[in-house]
Amino acid sequence: MLTSGAKTHRMCATSLSALLLLSYIFAVVAARAVEQDTGVGPPPVLAPGQAPPLPKRGPLAEPRLSTQVGFPTVLTKYVISPSTLRPARVALGQKLFFEPRLSGDGTVACATCHDPAQAFTDGRPVSVGIHGRVGQRNAPTVLNALYNKTQFWDGRVNTLEQQAALPITNPFEMGSASIGDAVSRIAGDKDYQTQFMQAFGRDVNEQDMLSAIAAYERTLASFDSPFDHFIAGDANAISDSAKRGWELFNGKARCNLCHALTDNQRDTTLFMDNDFHNIGIGILRHHVAPLAQQAERELAQGRLEAIDTASITSEMSVLGRFLVTRKQSDIASFKTPSLRNVLVTGPYFHDGSMQTLWDVMDHYNKGDGITNPWLDKDMQPLALNEPEIDDVVAFLASLTSPQYQVIGDQEYARQLALSKVSRPQRDTARAFGPKPKQPEPPRSKCIRLDCSDPCATGKPPRKSPLMCRCYECSELRSICCAFAGYLGEPSCM
Ligand code: HEC
Ligand code: HEC
Repeated sequence: MLTSGAKTHRMCATSLSALLLLSYIFAVVAARAVEQDTGVGPPPVLAPGQAPPLPKRGPLAEPRLSTQVGFPTVLTKYVISPSTLRPARVALGQKLFFEPRLSGDGTVACATCHDPAQAFTDGRPVSVGIHGRVGQRNAPTVLNALYNKTQFWDGRVNTLEQQAALPITNPFEMGSASIGDAVSRIAGDKDYQTQFMQAFGRDVNEQDMLSAIAAYERTLASFDSPFDHFIAGDANAISDSAKRGWELFNGKARCNLCHALTDNQRDTTLFMDNDFHNIGIGILRHHVAPLAQQAERELAQGRLEAIDTASITSEMSVLGRFLVTRKQSDIASFKTPSLRNVLVTGPYFHDGSMQTLWDVMDHYNKGDGITNPWLDKDMQPLALNEPEIDDVVAFLASLTSPQYQVIGDQEYARQLALSKVSRPQRDTARAFGPKPKQPEPPRSKCIRLDCSDPCATGKPPRKSPLMCRCYECSELRSICCAFAGYLGEPSCM
């Protein structure tokens, strides 16, 4: 008993000192923080074959304060392990985040697509990387990524360290031949040698490089929004419209079913559930069935690099979480993103397919997905009228941290003006209509012929004279023919 008590005590002490350290780092940079930023416009048009220009570091790249109103002290203590936030590591990580030499031709850094002035996004529907190569996915913000249980839209990795390794070698992002190759381009730099020594006590190396980048990202906690002040007791911090929007969010609009940690308790921190859902984005524009077959063929080994390349560079991107799990129920499902700073992180959704928060609301209002058998059961027509839609948007806009207040106001005005002339997602009849009958998820009638692998349960597949059937297998195996009634002809291999 005594021993375990002492151990608990020690653990508390360690995490407490980590938190103090965090406060310290945030405090050190407080003096340098500014309220203004450079402003956002439409992203610059690029010359063919050229990567976007490298953003400047600027004051918005600095770590954030742990004294922000709404800062989740307990949660932060829980997700950040002691020692990761040593100032020397954070400073090194920040430098690396802006380092174009980590890319194959020295033109692209993390910041190219995660620009601090644009709330660590690039403002584009989908990101553009080395040689101007256009990827398939929208760049999420790095702000508050420290709280994500999994990283990427499909959650293909868990930690920020694992995450940071992938864009460096992705051929459409930074395009280095290998991480070692990227490291070798900075290893001879005297400043880096000194900084690695100070931060980790050894020479420039791959593992410490990734740790440093992750350490920097863990200082990018972003709260202190008008909504946080409202929750903290300042009744005038947000408009009446935003207050009504917050009620709708947790009620009639059903947003809390996914953008909250639990279904029955209000969540004022991150507005996500650490889970994946098919909410019908992009699915109608793609032929999902052949893509799923292709994924099954090409990603059978589940190699992380192959999944990463497929999701950024190929049409298989639309399969979302399926690329990681290859379970039929995960087809076109994506991670619920946090809604913090969402006003300034558009365009929206994993493929950047929606321009304004009004488009997002129109999408949810009609419940989308008439022909999408994997649509999440929590999606349904909402029957929100126009003032109610405006209220939810006002609530979403109240989640903007003070550093982005100015561009937030500009962006709100821009989106509002656009929404007056263009509402491509609006479908009032469906929004006020009954829940459409959803097509059944396809049943497996015909199973792919190659059933030599054991089933997910470990049992061998059952065989019939004509074909083998993996009744016990993961749904994956039934995919090729399962789609027969849904999207065109199957082609069993
Ligand atoms: C060419 C643009 C580009 C570059 C360069 C880039 N990223 Fe990203 N980043 C993206 C895109 C696009 C995604 C989403 C990809 C996906 O989900 O499949 C992403 C995802 C992320 C995420 C996950 C966030 C979340 O909410 O899941 C983090 C963290 C991140 N990037 C950090 C970095 C770091 C660190 C670097 C540099 C080592 C970097 N990025 C380089 C475009 C880029
Ligand atoms: C069934 C779960 C679910 C419900 C209900 C839901 N969301 Fe989402 N939300 C998601 C998922 C998953 C994504 C990402 C989907 C994608 O990109 O394919 C998302 C994305 C978003 C985005 C885009 C964020 C970004 O960074 O691109 C916004 C904004 C948003 N949701 C707001 C809302 C609002 C407002 C409501 C209520 C009207 C709502 N959501 C209801 C699961 C849900």
